[in-house]
Amino acid sequence: MTTMEQTVAEILRAGAGILAADESTGTIEKRFKSANIPNVETNRRDYREMLFTTKGMEQHISGVILFDETLRQKSRAGVPLAKLLADKGVVPGIKVDAGTTALHGAPGELVTQGLDKLGERLKEYKALGARFAKWRAVITIGAGIPTPYCIEANAHALARYAALCQSEGIVPIVEPEVLMDADNTIETCFQVTCDTLHCTFDQLYKQRVVLEQMLLKPNMVVSGKKCATQASVEQVARETLRCFRRTVPAAVPGIVFLSGGQSDEHATAHLSAMNALGKHPWVLSFSYGRALQAPSLKAWAGQEANWSKGQAEFAKRAKLNGLAQLGKYNGAMEKEPALV
Ligand code: 13P
Repeated sequence: MTTMEQTVAEILRAGAGILAADESTGTIEKRFKSANIPNVETNRRDYREMLFTTKGMEQHISGVILFDETLRQKSRAGVPLAKLLADKGVVPGIKVDAGTTALHGAPGELVTQGLDKLGERLKEYKALGARFAKWRAVITIGAGIPTPYCIEANAHALARYAALCQSEGIVPIVEPEVLMDADNTIETCFQVTCDTLHCTFDQLYKQRVVLEQMLLKPNMVVSGKKCATQASVEQVARETLRCFRRTVPAAVPGIVFLSGGQSDEHATAHLSAMNALGKHPWVLSFSYGRALQAPSLKAWAGQEANWSKGQAEFAKRAKLNGLAQLGKYNGAMEKEPALV
């Protein structure tokens, strides 16, 4: 039987990271719409199969987060998609939260749901091949928010989820995401991210989560998208590290960042800059959704004839982020053509 430490070590192998392909049916609808792709089950299956069968992707992708539907789907040749990944040495994972809902008594703030019967669902997911899981909490920056109440409610649920995962031998990815959509400065993002991580680790400690058997998936410390002054790559790297050194225990083996709406190139450049400033107590890697998939989705556009073009774009982003995990990416590499 695989231990949780083994799963963590496989996911954190050098030069690789996680593909977050766990968009719910509603979220993939938004992504598909941007490329005029009908959101039907066969298209969702074909899209994921196209990504997962990309030649050599396993060199730079060590784990893939799946959505419930995808974990139950088979490739066109009849192989379960989770098995297809596992056979390539890529660890299958599963999104287990049920999305966000309004937080009672806290206008404009959200709490993540999905704890009901989670233990039973985890047993089923494990039988279907999942070895790690993800739960995303969302913290919104705005006038007078986030409140300490919102941060605590989300941290409590994250820790409940993580504890349940560990009871089932599944590695929890703990994802408290401070959104980057507002007009706030990088300083505000720094403070809110520090507060969020501080409270999250307090709850993880109180609920007896074993830090060596989990991964943290946070936002980077960045300027809000609508802020007039945008921080440089160097500043993002330094501020993110300053925040994590204050709040993330060294016992946590790895930090796998979300991209959160950053451009593909920024997400890669930021990760590489942080790794180039190493050595750090944790492995710094990626768990990107949009920043790994956007060019590929555009190139595929739901057309069979574009399958290999979609794969070439995905292979390129996977490779560049793999280099960023080693601190070896530079912007000039973006000019290299995507190779089929
Ligand atoms: P993005 O990288 O697109 O933010 O997605 C990562 C993810 O899994 C969000 O929960």
